[in-house]
Amino acid sequence: MHTLETLVSFAKKRGFVFLSSEIYGGFGGVYDYGPLGVELLRNLKQDWWNTMVRMRSDIVGLDAGIVMHPKVWKASGHTDGFSDPVTVCGKTGKRFRADHLLEDIGVSADERMTLEEFREVFEKHRSNLKPEGCDPNDLEEPEFQNLLVTSNIGAADNFEDVYLRGETCQGIYVNFKQVLDTMHLKLPFGIAQIGKAFRNEISPRQFLFRTREFEQMEMQYFVREGESGKFFEEFRRIRLESLQNLGLQKEHLRITPHERLVFYARAAEDIEHKYPFGWKELEGIHDRGDYDLMQHTKHTGEKLVYFDQDTDKHIVPHVVETSIGIGRLFLAVLHDAYAVEELPDGSERVVLRLRPSLAPITVAVLPLMKKDGLPEKAREIYTMLAPHFSVHYDETGAIGKRYRRTDEIGTPFAVTVDYDTLKDDSVTVRQRDSMKQNRVAISALTDTIKKEIRG
Ligand code: GAP
Repeated sequence: MHTLETLVSFAKKRGFVFLSSEIYGGFGGVYDYGPLGVELLRNLKQDWWNTMVRMRSDIVGLDAGIVMHPKVWKASGHTDGFSDPVTVCGKTGKRFRADHLLEDIGVSADERMTLEEFREVFEKHRSNLKPEGCDPNDLEEPEFQNLLVTSNIGAADNFEDVYLRGETCQGIYVNFKQVLDTMHLKLPFGIAQIGKAFRNEISPRQFLFRTREFEQMEMQYFVREGESGKFFEEFRRIRLESLQNLGLQKEHLRITPHERLVFYARAAEDIEHKYPFGWKELEGIHDRGDYDLMQHTKHTGEKLVYFDQDTDKHIVPHVVETSIGIGRLFLAVLHDAYAVEELPDGSERVVLRLRPSLAPITVAVLPLMKKDGLPEKAREIYTMLAPHFSVHYDETGAIGKRYRRTDEIGTPFAVTVDYDTLKDDSVTVRQRDSMKQNRVAISALTDTIKKEIRG
């Protein structure tokens, strides 16, 4: 296990993740993905889209707006029920998630408790709470803080108060009818979306784990009433498998059913990952019943139904949801791929053992020397490979140092152009993990690397 600090400093030093607006001192709960981070991010999204949309004839995609009609959030229950209990230290002014303070001492509070019920539990355990840098007796009475982020939109003299979406799936529900009518889908079917979501988290912390701006990859699977259980199990299996295919270690993943259900859920499980700060939710699998479609029908009068030809009746489908935050996935992938190895000569190397399909750079092209026509030949090879892979050209420093740099950022293949290349049109291909080197003809290089990636 590596500490979170190791990963934060690595991510910054190697251009994966930066603090937002760092030159202004940073901005809490928001992070920026650097040149290598954005490539990893895109690969993670592409993998999800392939698994959840492209390779399935029963799931279609969508990309809805971030700002939606404000009434959407009233109907979904978010303006009234989407809140976290917060308590403030009377001495220092520091804010704490009151339910997290309880969780830290092994007390779990039901999400559906009223404020009075929650305060009762809080008072019962107050003396045992461990708020960092604060005496528990100085904690103020908890209040519920709504998590929706507000904004305004429109002409300057006629602003409308709006919310930035708190979860992407509401875009799926409000487009349910349009998607159904245009795509002629038959139950069961799914609608998937990748996009930004925003939450006024009380204490954003643990790097990418809990942020105020983040991206979600969500899929809502519409099924007949009574079939949710079957599909819940199927998607739990599919998602677990898919996370392992991304390189997450099996022993760092586990399933935890929710004891406390959020307002929309009939059943919920977390796929948890073993982060440096412990087991935490990476992805949620939820049985949302017919809650959302019914709510939007109630608030709009628009019947969000499906005509079931088997029974000749209109029915309201039930929903099984899979929902994962890309930041949490990014952090988990980075954590499980990061390794510090001792080499036979006693030196150390940092190696990011990313799956080749996820690596920000797939191939590094390295001329052995910065002279004698080697850079020109290497540039030719770069141009040949660039349409097929994410390729990086590097001619600075000793070759050993350049190999270390490629290992550290997870580049699975390094192609070295040396003096023999000029004679026989072959190059050395070095593998990141085994550090083995093979001689490959330039004419066979693209196919060899493609085969390695598939393998
Ligand atoms: N549509 C259901 C939904 O939004 P959720 O459990 O609130 O459910 C789903 O969130 C996923 O979104 C989580 O499992 C997590 O991966 C991600 N997520 C939620 N809040 C987040 C935050 N503040 N920062 C980063 N990721 C977050």
